[in-house]
Amino acid sequence: MQRALLLENVHPTSVPILEASGYEVDYRKGALDEDELISALDGVQLLGIRSKTEVTARVLSEASDLVAVGAFSIGTNQINLTAAAGRGIAVFNAPFSNTRSVVELAIAEIISLTRRMTERDRALHAGVWDKSAEGSHEVRGRTLGIVGYGNIGSQLSVLAENLGMSVIFYDTAEKLALGNARRAETLDELLETADVVTLHVDGRSGNAGLFGAKQFARMKQDAIFLNLCRGFVVDVDSLAEHITSGHLSGAAVDVFPQEPKKRGDSFESVLRGLPNVILTPHVGGSTEEAQEAIGQFVAKKLSDYVTTGSTMLSVNLPNLQLEHTGVGRIKLLHRNVPGVLATVNQIFADHGANIEGQMLATRGDIGYVVTDISDVTERGASKKLQALDTTIRLRIRDAFERPEFPRARRPADPPDVSDAQATRVA
Ligand SMILES: NC(=O)c1ccc[n+]([C@@H]2O[C@H](COP(=O)([O-])OP(=O)(O)OC[C@H]3O[C@@H](n4cnc5c(N)ncnc54)[C@H](O)[C@@H]3O)[C@@H](O)[C@H]2O)c1
Repeated sequence: MQRALLLENVHPTSVPILEASGYEVDYRKGALDEDELISALDGVQLLGIRSKTEVTARVLSEASDLVAVGAFSIGTNQINLTAAAGRGIAVFNAPFSNTRSVVELAIAEIISLTRRMTERDRALHAGVWDKSAEGSHEVRGRTLGIVGYGNIGSQLSVLAENLGMSVIFYDTAEKLALGNARRAETLDELLETADVVTLHVDGRSGNAGLFGAKQFARMKQDAIFLNLCRGFVVDVDSLAEHITSGHLSGAAVDVFPQEPKKRGDSFESVLRGLPNVILTPHVGGSTEEAQEAIGQFVAKKLSDYVTTGSTMLSVNLPNLQLEHTGVGRIKLLHRNVPGVLATVNQIFADHGANIEGQMLATRGDIGYVVTDISDVTERGASKKLQALDTTIRLRIRDAFERPEFPRARRPADPPDVSDAQATRVA
């Protein structure tokens, strides 16, 4: 029986998906430290974690049975991706399972701030009946400026237009403008046009300090600012100054340069207590719907990998989208050096392999070649593939195995399969 270890209370929808792929699932609530994890991974092929379990190079070197790691999260900083790739261990995450949750929070905040709902709410809780239209606006007809038109930015664009907003966006990459959204040629053009500016850039290091005094100064009088992407992108001192001076009429911030480590910890920020400023504790993507979607998405990715070999959206291996076929499949992760494919195909030719299909993808110094073979005339090809000094990991599914029970093997082990000659389609 193959085994999966799921830690940190990942969403239980993941369990039946892995069980259906032939895995016995050990489901645990908490995280494990390095030593505990190493001992728990003995005999485990699949590991599922969230953000608190560190999958270090040492863990990966000791976990000789491990085939893939699922990060049931967006981020993968907790996993040593390079070490995992070097051992042929695939890592998957959930890059867009919480996109809609972030978008809905942004929409709610844009309306709340434009309407000054925060101040009316605060006053009434304090017993003050502040019935006034002053400073309250509809979002209809106003211009939303989206910086970063990726998964979140582009979906926000669609919903904002449905509310009657005009959308202008700025992205460093070429992006298809959805609906009537208009692309700004420069960030400055967006800042000078938008009534609401919202940041949705990714966390690449070059985005540190992207938005500071110069950018705030460019924004329109009474504009509103939102940051739901990454804390280090914005100079919060500068944001506080522009709110206090009355230049900006409101802001919503969900991510901070320094965030408390755990729930219940205290939070310090110059933004606390400022008028018409909504502060949320990095919960943009935190909804029950998103957790469920992440559970299903990552479990499906793990299941696809061990059944078909598909690495689509893996964050550390070359990406190949693969479907089930009725023939044997030889999946070879290898060092990406010149001549590997020729060597591999010579081995197949020497063994009279009838190749039905072959796909290759590379990523940095890792290559992944997947070959579907329906017949061979001579045994022994897999031992030769395993023995190549470029081989990182070889996995084989022969046609007599049920596809949901793939064989994963340790890189160091010679393959125990009956070899590709056993793959004649029954
Ligand atoms: N608050 C939360 O809980 C939460 C949840 C999910 C995601 N996020 C964050 O939201 C951000 C966006 O997520 P996504 O899934 O849309 O990412 P994405 O990768 O799909 O999109 C990011 C976009 O930003 C663009 N970009 C990068 N740098 C830029 C720059 N300097 N100027 C203009 N455009 C730039 C990229 O070209 C890309 O189109 C990420 O930083 C992510 O970490 C936050």
